[in-house]
Amino acid sequence: MLFRRVLKYFKPHKWAIILAMLCTVLVGLVSAAMAKVVKPVIDDVFINHDGEMLKILPFVVIGLFILKGLGRFGQQALMVKVGEVSIMEMRNDLMGRIQHRELSFFEANNTGSLMTRMLSDVSLMQNSVSYVVDFIRYTVTMLGLTVVMFQKDWRLALVASLSLPLAMYPMRRISALIKKYTRRTQERIGGISKVLVEAFTGIEVVKAFGTEDREKKKFREQSLKVLYHTLKRSRLNSATAPIMELLASFGIAAIIWYGGNNVINGVITPGDFFEFLTALLMMGEPVRMIGSVNNKIQQASAAAERVFEVIDETPAPCETEGDKELHPPVEEVRFEDVHFSYNTREEVIRGVSFVARRGEMVAFVGESGAGKSTILKLLPRFYSITAGAIKINGIDIREYDVKSLRSQIAIVNQSTFLFDDTVLSNIALGRPEATREEVIAAATAANALRFISELPNGFDTVIGERGDTLSGGQKQRIAIARAILRNAPILMLDEATSALDSESEKEIQSALTLLMEGRTTFVIAHRLSTIRHADRIVFLKKGLVTEVGKHQELVARDGDYARLCRIQFGEV
Ligand SMILES: Nc1ncnc2c1ncn2[C@@H]1O[C@H](COP(=O)(O)OP(=O)(O)OP(=O)(O)O)[C@@H](O)[C@H]1O
Ligand SMILES: [Mg+2]
Repeated sequence: MLFRRVLKYFKPHKWAIILAMLCTVLVGLVSAAMAKVVKPVIDDVFINHDGEMLKILPFVVIGLFILKGLGRFGQQALMVKVGEVSIMEMRNDLMGRIQHRELSFFEANNTGSLMTRMLSDVSLMQNSVSYVVDFIRYTVTMLGLTVVMFQKDWRLALVASLSLPLAMYPMRRISALIKKYTRRTQERIGGISKVLVEAFTGIEVVKAFGTEDREKKKFREQSLKVLYHTLKRSRLNSATAPIMELLASFGIAAIIWYGGNNVINGVITPGDFFEFLTALLMMGEPVRMIGSVNNKIQQASAAAERVFEVIDETPAPCETEGDKELHPPVEEVRFEDVHFSYNTREEVIRGVSFVARRGEMVAFVGESGAGKSTILKLLPRFYSITAGAIKINGIDIREYDVKSLRSQIAIVNQSTFLFDDTVLSNIALGRPEATREEVIAAATAANALRFISELPNGFDTVIGERGDTLSGGQKQRIAIARAILRNAPILMLDEATSALDSESEKEIQSALTLLMEGRTTFVIAHRLSTIRHADRIVFLKKGLVTEVGKHQELVARDGDYARLCRIQFGEV
């Protein structure tokens, strides 16, 4: 089953693999033929003093080694290439699939563990191709030698192979254990990666609270666990060859005793005996190697299981359903009794309904944790609602193709993620095909031009991981420029101006007001001054809508909203 999955990636390289197999068979056959040379050496040369044979034999030996060398080279070179190329494809495939997983997948799987699967596990699989070929090579060699032995003297061969079944039990037991410990090791490596990712991305917190030692200790603990399982696995690996050899020695001992007797009694010639013994001794290498190659294959298959676990999980419906294209204009966005809970925890949105018509601005107000940001995440289907419906232009958003739905939405978030790239390409994320002039125009509208032109390389300045070199307000203005550039009919602003001082906020507010023109906008703002002019203010309390209306209406109603206004403005 697993084998067939891996095979899929090797299929395009069918011919290279077949050629490598032929090389393998060649190597196996030549190895077996070497045993055949022993009899003429002993019987013809040593015993019968045959001079002619002596002239031929050295060339035969060299010829055989040349053939074997060519076969080995061909096999090795071809298989390494096939292995590397197919593993790269597998890794790309994995990345493609992981990227399309829904947000909750990334909440459930930590970054470190995902990275381990993509890097460490896939690498473990990397050599599995050449291991499989090695496995076949050694098996062919062994079979070839067995044929030589049976053909020579089936009674001797039977005696020699009595110990083979004995090898089966330890082999299987070791295989299972190796697989188990590999899995554990890989899980722990995931643990190490997790500690690393957290310690490095949270380095500011680590330093601020002086918890370097704590991180070091966590890392040490994980490393120790990796070491523990790795050592267990390598002990098994080291035991494999001696166990196999010990079993083989039973066969050899039996042959020396039984074959020796036959020679003494004149049943077979010394040449026959040595040909047989050579074939048997030559079995030593393949028998020993089959054991360790099998171990490697077990490791690779443990890793493969971990990789396919990720590939096989079907993405949540929010990333798959629907094939309708959403085209502008967006006339209406409607929430109908929407319910939602993250995972299986208690409901965060408990029956929310509202309408936003084309060009309207709808604002969400409520205390922290009321579910404001969550509502905005439901519209682009970052999560799937559990009951009710969200409709755009009268059609349930589940019927739209997700990509097409999201392409009509521009988002400015509570926190802005920037890539370690230039300012220009970070803004151009909003619309990758935009020209430089369009990007600059967007930055100007977002009031970001001044600080960008003060950067060492202006728009071509690389801003470091997560935009670490920029201030919170600067990041936010880049995010706003992105949204302006995206030019989408639906705009979502979640605390879009929270990191700005009053002055910049005022300037950007005018840019945003311009941007909102003709667009359906959803706004979350703790500063009520920014939402005074909203067409509709939705007051949320623990996932429920308690009030809806314009600013004046809600103030007149003298409810929750009015109380909030009194706190913020001192009066109404
Ligand atoms: N990814 C998540 N997984 C599980 N629970 C979540 C997740 N995100 C938010 N929550 C929970 O959902 C509830 C609503 O969160 P939400 O972010 O929507 O609040 P909010 O109204 O935007 O608050 P704030 O004003 O502080 O931004 C909170 O109780 C929060 O703990
Ligand atoms: Mg929020």
